[in-house]
Amino acid sequence: MPEADQEGQRYAPDQPQATPGFYLKGSHQLDWGMKNRLARVFDPASGRTVMLAVDHGYFQGPTTGLERIDLSIVPLLPSCDALFCTRGILRSVIPAHCQKPMVLRASGGPSILRDELSDEQIAMDMDDAVRLNAAGVGIQVFIGGEHETRSVHNMTRLVDAGLRAGVPVMGITAVGKTMVRDAKYFRLACRIIAELGAQYVKTYFVEDGFETVTASCPVPIVMAGGKKLAELEALTMAYNAVQQGAAGVDMGRNIFQSEAPQAMIAAVAAVVHKNMTPKEAFELFNSLKRRAAAVSEVVRTANTG
Ligand code: 5RP
Repeated sequence: MPEADQEGQRYAPDQPQATPGFYLKGSHQLDWGMKNRLARVFDPASGRTVMLAVDHGYFQGPTTGLERIDLSIVPLLPSCDALFCTRGILRSVIPAHCQKPMVLRASGGPSILRDELSDEQIAMDMDDAVRLNAAGVGIQVFIGGEHETRSVHNMTRLVDAGLRAGVPVMGITAVGKTMVRDAKYFRLACRIIAELGAQYVKTYFVEDGFETVTASCPVPIVMAGGKKLAELEALTMAYNAVQQGAAGVDMGRNIFQSEAPQAMIAAVAAVVHKNMTPKEAFELFNSLKRRAAAVSEVVRTANTG
């Protein structure tokens, strides 16, 4: 067994990795189809994305806010850059005329009823992702988890299939309940996922050292939302993540569990694409929320009067 090296310290977050010929970090040597799919998800103008994550049902069933995706999520589609969902929801609920890029959940296995969630397998053929015109696929990788090796192997098999088809793979750092969520862990997990071929990585924000997580990962990182926070807190987290090198967000509960999801996704988009400060974005959220409430009051009065 080789002696483990000390982790390096030279992250140089102020010296961004060069991206010659294509705007996305680490993507300039990919094939045309892969680049084209990435360009559908990551806005070429800002180089960033607001992905709306609604895949929770793949292990949690009808999660709060996703009980009726037709009612709660379909109206939000025009406001996101891409939707992260399961193929079941795509086929059964998302209108096929929708022009938004779809990134499909490609792993599954244990439900929320089990303690060990790392026992996943690949749960979708790449052929089906292509048939569904997917812009990408996403898969959990449980670094340090009980089924670490299998989850890494699931991802590498998906990456091989994705390279054959031109479909990018988003590797997701899945953290066990008892594991420490710090920059050291996420540097390790994100780097392993990128080294083993994922075209981009979804990971959580950490207050200390997030810029070292993004700097040491040679492909784009999108910030995972996590559990529902107060709106200002969630906007601050998204702001800090993009200012510290994330290429956008893949947020779910902090959008669809907000008291005003439409206002929240617009505020998140302003932070991600326009570098709006959290305070300004929160003001935008409040003014859009007030406007939406006024419109529903007019509709309610018209319907009852
Ligand atoms: C967990 C996942 C999800 O199932 C989901 O996308 C999480 O979104 P959020 O935490 O923002 O609600 O990828 O790793």
